[in-house]
Amino acid sequence: MAFKPANNIQDLQYFGEFGGVNPSISDSSTYTFLSAKTMFDTFEGNADGCYLYSRHSTPSNLYLGQALAAMEGTETASVTASGMGAITPVLMQLCGAGDHIVSSRTIYGGTYAFLKNFTPRFNMATTFVDITKLDVVEAAITPNTKVIYCESVSNPLLEVADIAGLAKLAKKHNLKLVVDNTFSPLSISAAQLGADVVIHSLTKFINGSSDTVGGVICGTQKFIDDLRNVNDGACMLLGSTMDSLRAASILKNLRTLHIRMQQHSLNGLYLAERFEKDGLKTVYPGLASHPSHDLFKSMMNEKYGFGGMLTVDVGSLDKANALMELMQKRNLGYLAVSLGFYKTLFSAPGSSTSSEIPAEEQKEMGLSDGLIRFSIGLDADIERTYHMMKDCMKELEIL
Ligand SMILES: Cc1ncc(COP(=O)(O)O)c(C=O)c1O
Repeated sequence: MAFKPANNIQDLQYFGEFGGVNPSISDSSTYTFLSAKTMFDTFEGNADGCYLYSRHSTPSNLYLGQALAAMEGTETASVTASGMGAITPVLMQLCGAGDHIVSSRTIYGGTYAFLKNFTPRFNMATTFVDITKLDVVEAAITPNTKVIYCESVSNPLLEVADIAGLAKLAKKHNLKLVVDNTFSPLSISAAQLGADVVIHSLTKFINGSSDTVGGVICGTQKFIDDLRNVNDGACMLLGSTMDSLRAASILKNLRTLHIRMQQHSLNGLYLAERFEKDGLKTVYPGLASHPSHDLFKSMMNEKYGFGGMLTVDVGSLDKANALMELMQKRNLGYLAVSLGFYKTLFSAPGSSTSSEIPAEEQKEMGLSDGLIRFSIGLDADIERTYHMMKDCMKELEIL
């Protein structure tokens, strides 16, 4: 039977402490025990349903984790203070000194910087590869490799990973496949395709209101328990814990994710098709011209479309900057990093979110100076938006 992530969220039922339709928010950093023995058992990890200290877990964080695990179809999930606060402990948990990671070369700049500049301090090495080429991925695997890391749809180039193919490779070589699914929530169900661990930056589409950072790690009960272990768990010891008040607010936003993703995707496809017809170099997984269009189609939960992210190359950084400034002036969106907001957000990734990637490597991976990354908003009248954007482009002689 087809996997239905939004049904899984819809079907969760809550009875708050006082009968509220939303779960009560846990507003405590520490928890009482009626007996010293239960406290001891909880430290040992043997007392289900007992809370210890909020860096470990809180009722509000568990509710949000449960909903996100239902969305991805994993046994459980653990929420974190940010997307990076999810990515870094996962990699530190799975790898140690002497270990090796095979990673997609087109990933979020912060993750790239972590793998390239930070983890070598702990003698962890990463080989960056073109993730769309399974033979290249396999050739990079060494006896020390522990993890294959990728984004389902990559930031910012919108390359699409063949998750089932990568999962097969991971199984064959006894590795863990870790997938950052931030760009394609609901559209792609990475764990159903074989990913061992699925990560999201909740900051983006899932929360959708650009009012907080947040992250989640979805995986097996055993892996999440390991991350929370008081003695050697990377989440517990590195401490990137989400605050309970935020967990409660993100849970409320999650409930409208399916409606928002449909509108983001509808608007994204509309603009991508028209920009491409106008002769602009447009990248969007929903376009037949996208090299992985068929792959995306074969993986997607169709209802939620190809997402709200698209890129347009306007030829030079100067032109990109001028266009973004003019579009902001005309109230078509904000010149801002991040994604998933109700208004369109645009930025030039080469000089912002991917600036951690050295210029020559940007060039090699096809990240050109004139590239603008759009996170298309929930605009009710996308035709009007298109005409207004086109006017800006004509004014600047981009079209
Ligand atoms: C694909 C992707 N993963 C992870 C992150 C990091 O998330 P956060 O900013 O919530 O730490 C980002 C942020 O831009 C992202 O785009």
